[in-house]
Amino acid sequence: MKSVSVAGEWFTVRWMDGRLLIMDQRKLPQAESYVVLETMEDVFQAIRTLMVRGAPAIGIVAAWGMALGASQSLARDIPEFMEELKAARDYVASARPTAVNLSWAVNRMTAKAERSVKGDQATVGLLQDILAEEAALIQREDEDASRAMGEHLLSLLGKSRGILTHCNAGQLATSRYGTALSPIYVGVEKGEKFHVFVDETRPVLQGSRLTAWELQKLGVDVTLICDNMAATVMSQHKVDAVIVGADRIAGNGDVANKIGTLGVALLAHHYEIPFYVAAPLSTVDLAIPTGRQIPIEQRPSDEIVKGFGVATAPEGVSVYNPAFDVTPHAYITAIVTERGVARKPYSVSLRDHVREVNP
Ligand code: MRU
Repeated sequence: MKSVSVAGEWFTVRWMDGRLLIMDQRKLPQAESYVVLETMEDVFQAIRTLMVRGAPAIGIVAAWGMALGASQSLARDIPEFMEELKAARDYVASARPTAVNLSWAVNRMTAKAERSVKGDQATVGLLQDILAEEAALIQREDEDASRAMGEHLLSLLGKSRGILTHCNAGQLATSRYGTALSPIYVGVEKGEKFHVFVDETRPVLQGSRLTAWELQKLGVDVTLICDNMAATVMSQHKVDAVIVGADRIAGNGDVANKIGTLGVALLAHHYEIPFYVAAPLSTVDLAIPTGRQIPIEQRPSDEIVKGFGVATAPEGVSVYNPAFDVTPHAYITAIVTERGVARKPYSVSLRDHVREVNP
């Protein structure tokens, strides 16, 4: 993988002149730097090390990674090509376990190739083109889904303008607009003003490094708080609504999202503040009945004991570092997808949303 400089508006992921470019989010907010992912190993490492993160963005990069790997294939025939593709799918899918968008995207890419092979005209060259088109479609659909969520959430918010969010579910986590931040992007386009409280989001600081960065760039009134200040700002009536993203939504509406989300949901419940989850349908996993079955990624202890580049804990202390938690559906006021606003019971409403897309 190599660093490149890119002029113009910032972006999260882009296929440009046959090259897969991503912003290296580990470098934010100090530097806006981009890298070219040149191999499947680069794609795997970029996802695993959080150069690219956020459920939809991970899925998009994984899809492009599959197209990239396919374009480099030296397979002599279709069976060999399909073998390689399936190995690539399994490899990339193993980079991180919680965000279902990752396996959703690589499975969709493989299924597209399998369907195309059934046609009599299939060649390796044709499949390579089809996979590049499918990755582009996944990215375009994600942008459309985010835009639609933005419109739905704006209607839902009504006159509410004091928003609290956790982690980063903005443009950096998607193709464009974000999920939780989509109403802010769409609202700003319409001349609306917001005041957004951003949880710092320990241990990796996606809130302060990424959300505060992108909202500030957008010209939004943003106030950064440490995670343990959310109760105070809620108790002071500064927050009208909480909006977060999701990494996986189970069939009953339980939501896995960045560690700390559960605490925010419980606080919002206590202070009777609406708690909204925004996610595209690619994040909904109807194969998983409840949040208990969602695999939760455990991350290295250094994120906690050396997260600021210096030791912040005694050497050898034992550490527990789950990257995500699960918010039970009971604490979620509504789940917003590109299809609209899903309400309880989510086991019915989420199915309806999915059915509208895949009848
Ligand atoms: O570990 P991360 O940074 O990938 O976690 C990201 C989150 O938890 C986001 O809230 C979620 O993926 C939704 S992004 C639209």
